[in-house]
Amino acid sequence: MKVRLTTLCDNTVGASGLTGEWGLSILAEFRGEKVLLDAGFGDAVVKNADLIGVDLGGVDQIVLSHGHLDHTGGLTPLLQRMGRKIAVYAHPDVWDQKYSASLQPWGGEKGYHFIGIQQRRETLESLGADFRYDRAPVWLNDHMVTTGEVPMVTPFEFVEDNLCVKTETGYITDPLLDDQALVIKSERGLVVVLGCAHRGAVNTILHAKTITGVDRVHAVVGGTHLLRADDDQINQTAAALRELGVEKLGVSHCTGLPAAAMLAREFGPDFFFNTAGTVIEF
Ligand SMILES: [Fe+2]
Ligand SMILES: [Fe+2]
Repeated sequence: MKVRLTTLCDNTVGASGLTGEWGLSILAEFRGEKVLLDAGFGDAVVKNADLIGVDLGGVDQIVLSHGHLDHTGGLTPLLQRMGRKIAVYAHPDVWDQKYSASLQPWGGEKGYHFIGIQQRRETLESLGADFRYDRAPVWLNDHMVTTGEVPMVTPFEFVEDNLCVKTETGYITDPLLDDQALVIKSERGLVVVLGCAHRGAVNTILHAKTITGVDRVHAVVGGTHLLRADDDQINQTAAALRELGVEKLGVSHCTGLPAAAMLAREFGPDFFFNTAGTVIEF
């Protein structure tokens, strides 16, 4: 039995006709269970599912990797399409008032820009979201588990200090405690599906090994958040991924082209660009 990953939303697309959108959404299927990690930014998840031929009605559970809008904005069209109640697993901090202290990607004034969940909780609940909050790992079925909070142990991974939470006393650095991944225990070892990996891809994989007690890492797929990392951090990440025994690596979203190029060179034929429309089995 193989794990199947279908990327429904990514910044880039792998086939004509698909919609590219800054965000991420990956459907994981294994042993009859269908779990969707994230929902992208807008309606790409629904449009691309239609084009690829994915029945969103068959999704059993949704997991939110963290409370940023490029992973949660698509919940509205997704829930509208599903038209029923569905469990949505998330860390309670996903509802923090999250901001980025930076220039807007399209230019403009430097300042604080809202990047948290845009929808009201009640609106999503009225559309069918049955939120289940946990800081710890949650086993969704016999083979799939969320990481919950990821301990930060490597010396070269850190949460960017331009990411903030707005509090009553002002803006504070966001520790992104809500950042988590989806882990699948397959016959060939772990398949780790990353959202943004704000707390570090290597930290996340180390935590996945601890949670599952499985040492073999067959595949890592998703956002590695190296888009602003320097060469030193990228090289240390590549070396650590090798040391951890990662056999296949598919990068998406917030990896950034310099990091993707360096990882492609390191992993050779075991590397792939995980764009929207990628359907891969492990
Ligand atoms: Fe993010
Ligand atoms: Fe993201």
